[in-house]
Formats: sequence, structure tokens, C-alpha cells
Amino acid sequence: MKKHLISCKQYDNHEQLETLFGLTAKVNKPYYREDYPVSPCAYVAENKIMATLFYEPSTRTRFSFEAAMHKLGGNVISSDSAGQFSSHAKGESLEDTIKVVSQYADVIVLRHPEKGAAQRAASVNGSTIINAGDGDGEHPTQALLDLYTIKKRFNKIDGLRVALVGDLTHSRTIHSLIYLLTLYKDMNVLLCSPKEFSLPEEHIAHLLEKRVKFAPWNDVKTMLREGKPDVIYLTRLQKERLDPLKKIITEHQWMGWSFGQEELELAKEDAIIMHPLPRLQELSTCVDKDKKAVYLTEQIKCGLEVRTGLLYSLFYNNTI
Ligand code: CP
Repeated sequence: MKKHLISCKQYDNHEQLETLFGLTAKVNKPYYREDYPVSPCAYVAENKIMATLFYEPSTRTRFSFEAAMHKLGGNVISSDSAGQFSSHAKGESLEDTIKVVSQYADVIVLRHPEKGAAQRAASVNGSTIINAGDGDGEHPTQALLDLYTIKKRFNKIDGLRVALVGDLTHSRTIHSLIYLLTLYKDMNVLLCSPKEFSLPEEHIAHLLEKRVKFAPWNDVKTMLREGKPDVIYLTRLQKERLDPLKKIITEHQWMGWSFGQEELELAKEDAIIMHPLPRLQELSTCVDKDKKAVYLTEQIKCGLEVRTGLLYSLFYNNTI
């Protein structure tokens, strides 16, 4: 296993994921022993420091990493608007910032608007880097928690039909998830997006190389009727990745691209609806209370659990 978590390409086989998921389940199991009331997990990160260095906004990733670190008895230092409030605002390079923060923290959880930033940070040879999203590149810990959510619900991954819906061009969560899905057998990936937002060539090439069945769809209802996915994974339009003119044109077109009551009724009875969040108009709140919807419940819970598992693995086993 590598010292950093930069890309889901790092995983060579699904056994590595099963190991992480097994550890995640163990670490998060309710603990009770009368003779030893505090879980040993609560000390694994004692005297360790995690820095969350976020150059882009976040609700889930940063808070769940920080909550996980607290659960393991560790400490957190944080810059949640690093573009504005770190010395980046004065012109400091990412490399210099990482060299410095590495002397304060054992692990740096980094979110950055540029694709490849996490790899650049790792090349500095400082602390362990965890990629918390690099532009439209990847978001590996989101993909791990997504897969864990799917695994918990279906008790398997092999053979599932997974629909990836929305802005496939810029969704880093989808880019990472594709690398993980291709480690399993008999997968069927349904790529559903407006034509202008289709999956980049490098990810298509990966699906072809791994001989995973996939097909493009440009209409959600048709995809649901004919593709019959088990997992419906929705994403928002990544407005922040578009230039201003394209943003105005696209936002207008995008209004018609949404998942609501009619789409919900077309989904298979035992399908699950996922979203990395935040959601915009593409996912109606009328879906929230349906038993198929897991994005505000199981998926969030799995986020905290998997990030706790990852930090436990780092501090207890020195692997990630
Ligand atoms: N899914 C996700 O990355 O959410 P945040 O941007 O809130 O961290």
C-alpha cells in the first residue's frame, strides 16, 4: 500500500478495498466492555495531528475527516478557505505550503481547484497527503464511501448495474468511482449525461481497457426504463469549472435535467439513489423521504465511517 491517497488508480484489486471495508466495519462497530469502557480505537491517533487544507468549499469531506480524527483521539488544525487565508493569497506555492504544514501535521487532507494538485503535494515528500478533491480530477475518499454504501446495501458489488448521471465531464467523484467499479466482475456502467457533459476520453479508455460493459444515454427516463440500474448515482453541474459565458448558457439548459417524482417511479423497486452532494435542481427534495434515497442518510454515515477507517489504517497499520 502507498503512503498517500491520491487516486483510486492506486487500487489494483478489490481485495484491497475489502480489507479497508472490513477494517472500517470493525472500527465503527458499537463498543461495549464493562471492564474496559473506552474503545481502543479512541486512542489510535493520540498525539497525532491532521491538517485539513481546503482551497475550495466543503461541508461533508472536511467535517467528516475532522470528526473521524476526533473519534480516534487525534488533533486537527484547519484552513477551510486556504485560497484566501493561507499565504497562498500572498503568492506562496502549494509546494512551499506543503513543506511547511508537513512540519506541523502527520497527515494533510488537501482539497484544491487544480487537477493534479494532490500529486504535486505528494511529490514534496512531506506528510501523508489525502486527496480530498483536485479540480475535475479525482475525489478518492468519496468513491470509497460510495462503494462502501453500495456494498452495505446490496451485500455485493459484482454484477450490479450502476448509472452515473449528470456532469460526467467534471465530476471528480465519478472519475474516482469508475476506477473502483472496474475492479469488480460483470459490472454494467450506464453513462447518462447531456452530450456536452460526457465522460472524458481517459475514463472511457479505462473502461475499455478493463473490458467493463458500458453504454451512453442522453435521457434519464429512457435510461431508467431500458437500462434498469440498481444504483442511480446523480451529480450536479459543476458550475465552478465553467467559464462565465458557458456557465450562463449551460445553467439555463441544465434546468430541464432533473430527477423527481416521475423518475423515482421509473426506478427499480430495490434501486438506490445516491448523490455526493451538494445537490442543486437536478435532484428534487420530493425524493428525499423515499426508501431508495440514501444520499442524506446511509451515504453520509458511510462517509464518516470510511474516513475513520482510513485514518485508523494510517495510524495503526501505517498504510492507506
Ligand atoms: N461530496 C463532497 O465532496 O461534499 P463537500 O464538497 O461538501 O465536501
